[in-house]
Amino acid sequence: MKPFCFADGQIISSEKATLHPMDLGLIRGYGIFDFFRTVNFKPLFLESYLDRFLASAEKTFLPMDYSRAELRAIIHELIEKNNLKEGGIRMVLSGGVSPNHFSPAKGKLFIFAESLIFPAQEKYDKGIKLLSLEYVRPIAEIKTTNYAYPVWDSMRWKDAGAEDVIYHMNGILSESSRSNFFIVKDGIISTPDLHVLMGITRKHVIELAGDVQIRPISMQEALNADEAFITSTTKVLLPVTQIDEHEIGTGKPGSVSLGLLEKFRELEKEICF
Ligand code: PDD
Repeated sequence: MKPFCFADGQIISSEKATLHPMDLGLIRGYGIFDFFRTVNFKPLFLESYLDRFLASAEKTFLPMDYSRAELRAIIHELIEKNNLKEGGIRMVLSGGVSPNHFSPAKGKLFIFAESLIFPAQEKYDKGIKLLSLEYVRPIAEIKTTNYAYPVWDSMRWKDAGAEDVIYHMNGILSESSRSNFFIVKDGIISTPDLHVLMGITRKHVIELAGDVQIRPISMQEALNADEAFITSTTKVLLPVTQIDEHEIGTGKPGSVSLGLLEKFRELEKEICF
């Protein structure tokens, strides 16, 4: 974590930030967050992330004391104070200390600056393996802090030689633990429509691709796809070349996936330089 964060209504030393131990964030796993990157000191797609963060607060019944303009100003000040050229900003709103230890209360807002480590280049060059997992993220469209199941389950991924998981239920795919999922078949790009977080990277990849089918995708379709990839703020676009023991397409990252990654990097440069 970088030296300065926003907590208790002001910019303070990050190590001084505190949370009440009875906060619902801790005792019930109830809270929201969002996370975006800075590129060349600029917060990439900031307004999209603020849209989602403010919507998450409203949908989880957590009062937000700060306006969009105030949040924006705090974020710019934090980037400057932390000299955050390439990094991450994490906004967190806790569930608050609730009189009955259950109902959403008035949460505490934190904004942290972080350094960011991208996956190794080898993973972009060779693609990654996902493990299939029968699971649906609860209230998937809201960016809650509830990742208990995937954090617990992640202890077995490494042994299976996997980078992450792909969730499915009744044969239909949704997303990965912290990323959205796409397939490419005969040049047509598709991504699941339901039980997914509306990823900001997903949104921009859809815009860059121009024509993407947003619809239910079966596991069988994914296994028979020419290409597959996941998208997220921290990975941008990572080719998926294996699901469980099945190779996807040629078993190598495909040209559509790599082309979209390149387009995304160009867009980033256009916006931030
Ligand atoms: N994860 N789905 C889930 C469940 C996520 O947690 C995320 C983001 C995404 C991708 O969304 P975006 O493109 O807006 O980052 C999809 C963040 C990066 C994390 O928890 O580390």
